[in-house]
Amino acid sequence: MQIPSDMTAVEISSYGGPEVLKPVTVPVPQAGPGQILIRIAYTGVNRPDALQRAGNYAPPPDASPLPGLEAAGHVAAVGEGVTRWAVGDAITALLPGGGYAEYAVTAADHALPVPDGMSMDRAAALCETFFTVWTNVFKRGELAAGERFLVHGGSSGIGTIAIQLAKLRGARVFATAGSDEKCAACVELGAEAAFNYRETDFVEAMRAEGGADLILDMVGGPYIPRNLDALAMDGRLVQIAFLQGSNVEMDMMQVMTRRLTITGSTLRPQSHTAKAAIARALEAEVWPHLAGGTIGPVMDSEFALVEAAKAHERMESSAHIGKIVLKVA
Ligand SMILES: NC(=O)c1ccc[n+]([C@@H]2O[C@H](COP(=O)([O-])OP(=O)(O)OC[C@H]3O[C@@H](n4cnc5c(N)ncnc54)[C@H](OP(=O)(O)O)[C@@H]3O)[C@@H](O)[C@H]2O)c1
Repeated sequence: MQIPSDMTAVEISSYGGPEVLKPVTVPVPQAGPGQILIRIAYTGVNRPDALQRAGNYAPPPDASPLPGLEAAGHVAAVGEGVTRWAVGDAITALLPGGGYAEYAVTAADHALPVPDGMSMDRAAALCETFFTVWTNVFKRGELAAGERFLVHGGSSGIGTIAIQLAKLRGARVFATAGSDEKCAACVELGAEAAFNYRETDFVEAMRAEGGADLILDMVGGPYIPRNLDALAMDGRLVQIAFLQGSNVEMDMMQVMTRRLTITGSTLRPQSHTAKAAIARALEAEVWPHLAGGTIGPVMDSEFALVEAAKAHERMESSAHIGKIVLKVA
């Protein structure tokens, strides 16, 4: 594979709104030991990219300053010591950053094969959401078959995958979303019920079901005490974002009296080894279902790489259902 010295990328020219995303020409990165260079076909757009763009989510010190946490494409070069992949392999990968570009490097063991029969646009929409849902719903949240699971933002990139994986696990799945159309999409994906939070009180709705054993929340703020109210005895709350803020005054008594657990995590700063372990678990337990078509990403829209600003505008409008991707090649 011929690798050019320069490539088109989209950079965060200064912190601000979508308009700060600007096409630039930069050198193609090189794969170091244990890394692969990916010729990107499609790259996924995620909320954390918007947080980074706004100056609220700094990349780790060794990561590319370019946004972009996941991509699909072909291996263009392998670094020293890489045996799993060869040039030309079709892969989807979690990136430390740098996905808004024609080429990106990542750790070889943070990549997975493109599931059999899956197109590159769909493959690009997998890693950030699947890694996040796997680690927070099943590892931290320990969701088990038969439990009642509530996910807020059910129509988000994260939510659409959380619904499908929880259903696959045999849980009873509930979701909240901001419109009837979004709620219908959640039910179509496998939620037993979805509550339009503009009309329905999710606390009452979940209490009527006996309470949630696990809640995956990205909203925070006023949802935090309400989440505790909605949990069943021994229930768990896993926080993956705070779209409505992280400062809250609340009575913690029921954490003790009802034996509740509050936890959370962010994916990006986790160790190389932790991310590699998530990749291997997903490949063994989830990838066969993607290849079989039982589950899959929900695709909202596609933009050209150089139109990344438009993609962010769409994401921040919250009009989308599922994933937004950028077409690179
Ligand atoms: N911790 C981690 O490791 C990790 C990793 C990836 C993503 N995340 C976080 O997970 C969340 C989902 O990510 P994503 O890429 O799937 O994003 P996304 O598709 O843009 O979804 C975000 C959803 O949140 C709802 N929302 C937006 N602003 C809101 C607000 N101010 N208050 C309440 N709800 C709001 C919207 O749904 P409605 O219209 O239904 O309100 C929207 O669909 C993001 O907050 C992201 O930062 C965390």
